Amino acid sequence: MHPNDVPKSYDLTEAGDRYFDGLADKFSRSLYQAPRGELRLAMLDYLLPQMLLLNEQNVLDVGGGLGQQTAWFAKRGHKVTMAEPSKDMLSYAQQWHHDDPTLPHSSITYRQASLQDLPPQAPGPWSLITCHAVLEWLGDPQAALANLSDLLAPGGQLSLMVFNRDALRFSNVVKGNLEKALSDRLEGKGKRQRLTPISPITHNDIVQWSAANGLKIDAVAGIRVFQDYLRHPPATPAEKETLLALEKQYCRQDPHWRLGRYLLYTLTKPESPE
Ligand SMILES: C[S@@+](CC[C@H](N)C(=O)[O-])C[C@H]1O[C@@H](n2cnc3c(N)ncnc32)[C@H](O)[C@@H]1O
Repeated sequence: MHPNDVPKSYDLTEAGDRYFDGLADKFSRSLYQAPRGELRLAMLDYLLPQMLLLNEQNVLDVGGGLGQQTAWFAKRGHKVTMAEPSKDMLSYAQQWHHDDPTLPHSSITYRQASLQDLPPQAPGPWSLITCHAVLEWLGDPQAALANLSDLLAPGGQLSLMVFNRDALRFSNVVKGNLEKALSDRLEGKGKRQRLTPISPITHNDIVQWSAANGLKIDAVAGIRVFQDYLRHPPATPAEKETLLALEKQYCRQDPHWRLGRYLLYTLTKPESPE
């Protein structure tokens, strides 16, 4: 770094990425122990078998966080390499995986590594890579998609989930943060324990970056197309079930998928460059 450059934030890496060190407990509480995390997992459980061709192939889970997706694949017969740069997150994942007797533990390999570390450490090439809710925490998400593309085998599939910038604007308006929305100051700064992503992403970004890397968009869905905009969150288990049914019904339909809190893509790398 040039001596006159001021670091963007003491919490970000030199590349401008936000590793989740010190955030494992908060992330677990505010997402996975809350209804929105439950819904996200239920939707991924519903969508991934529809959107991916799964045949127990090896999987690379990039930025695996607390390890839910890794566990999901391992339980379905895949060998999974979980890469996560934050020691806190990785230890948390390893601990609960270890405590879950239903998990085939020998199917999981852990690496404390960032996406940028992976080409030398786990070059593959991989026929299936998952990278869920990671790009929005990076200083240069476009470069990250190029890295992911390099790790994919010809014919390989990338399950990519990104935090949707358009949904962030909409939910800010719904919550009354009108000035913030009007000036489009939507991104977080990655400071302290804040969980607003530093690089929220639009569908258009993914369309352009995929094309630039020779990746084809095979499928897209919105995750949580209604839940974040509700005035009255479901109060009973029956209402929760109905909301889940609605999310399933509309997650791949226009225009609803476009305002999903997250956008989930299957990107494939052609067998031979076109
Ligand atoms: C919002 S969490 C998502 C975790 C998990 N994939 C999920 O869907 O629950 C973002 C994760 O990306 C990780 N991360 C940040 N920078 C990264 C990088 N350069 N390479 C790989 N992972 C990174 C963070 O440490 C954090 O665990």
